[in-house]
Amino acid sequence: MTETQNQLMHRLAANTRVGYSFDQEFYASDAVFKADMDAIISQKWLLAGHVSRIPNKGDYFLFRVGTEQIIVIRENADSVRAFFNVCRHRGSTICQAESGNAPRLVCPYHAWTFGLDGRLISARLMPEDFDKAENSLFACHIRVFHGLIFINMSEDEPVDFDATFGDMGPILDYHGFDNARIAHAGSYPTTANWKLVVENFFECYHCVPSHPEFCSMHAAESIVAVGAGPSSGPADAIASFAPKLQVWEEQASAAGRPIGNIDDAPDSSHLRLLMQRMNKEGWSSETQDGSPPAPLMGKRDKPDGGRMHLSFSPFSQIVADDHFAILFQFTPRGALETDVEMIWIVDGNATEDEVDIEKMIWGYHATTTQDKVITENNQAGIMSTRYRPGRYSDQEGSVIKFQKWYLHQFGLERAE
Ligand code: FES
Ligand code: FE
Repeated sequence: MTETQNQLMHRLAANTRVGYSFDQEFYASDAVFKADMDAIISQKWLLAGHVSRIPNKGDYFLFRVGTEQIIVIRENADSVRAFFNVCRHRGSTICQAESGNAPRLVCPYHAWTFGLDGRLISARLMPEDFDKAENSLFACHIRVFHGLIFINMSEDEPVDFDATFGDMGPILDYHGFDNARIAHAGSYPTTANWKLVVENFFECYHCVPSHPEFCSMHAAESIVAVGAGPSSGPADAIASFAPKLQVWEEQASAAGRPIGNIDDAPDSSHLRLLMQRMNKEGWSSETQDGSPPAPLMGKRDKPDGGRMHLSFSPFSQIVADDHFAILFQFTPRGALETDVEMIWIVDGNATEDEVDIEKMIWGYHATTTQDKVITENNQAGIMSTRYRPGRYSDQEGSVIKFQKWYLHQFGLERAE
């Protein structure tokens, strides 16, 4: 008898130990990836991009998740829509290019033509009883929030967006994401399971050996204490860093920054996180010499040397300095394939001459290029017959929390 998805996840979870990495199957099996798609990836709000990518009516881009392709398209000045890229005739994909402009969505196979609202406008030579109204494109849930485009592929009513993310509004507002523009985008496709990509992002134990550029931009004590989340480091390092953090928080708050943390529990729907802290002393921005690569973003009228990390889910993260922000998208494509996209955004009023792209991307382009390599190495080693789950350090607390969250998505817990 073949194992059901439920049985598979129960069997695997029963073997896991708190404080140890997962078994190979979690990171390598197609059946687990299918379970991940069904129970997690298709149920979450995923950050798909920034509205400035599609400023004009008919501008679109494709957002690929697993074997799905979502057309994200501007219907008009006030509306952005999302549709599954599947023709209602015989199922061909409609948009072939990764991005473009389409006044109408015309299927290249037999020319069925859909409006920007997804409705079927014309279909040639169809029988009399054919009803165009029943053949609109399948809509995908979409929400534009402070200039950020989120999609949710759930077939049912998804988790309520405002109830889940509403409290993040003031911080996004302060940073000016609504009035921002894309300055640069980079693609770092990673031959590894999405959980390895996330786990790597959720720990800074690897920062010292792997990320010289990143470490040069941050104080060592900050990397150890809160490198990858407010509870990612050892308790004594967090405690000794706290007084310095408090001084900065008071200064930043007095200058207008909304201060506060979000650190969702493992039984939450999206495992959100908001962490704010100062950059290295004298470092106004995360660049090679600490000087700003672009004008100030958002509502601030002077820099406070802060760094904001906002996580909407393990798949969608933002890091923002005073002068630029980066959207990180970790999008699962297959058991051993994850798209890693970075979108650098700056204030919408910043001119091209005012933005030094090379300077702005120096730190995180290097860091993510390194992360791609170390994560692919991690996957390659896990494929060995001699891989065994290994013990986590005191600097990998956020990974343990992520694993709890992951298992919770399947209704599973494991013994402490
Ligand atoms: Fe699209 Fe036939 S499959 S028109
Ligand atoms: Fe890293």
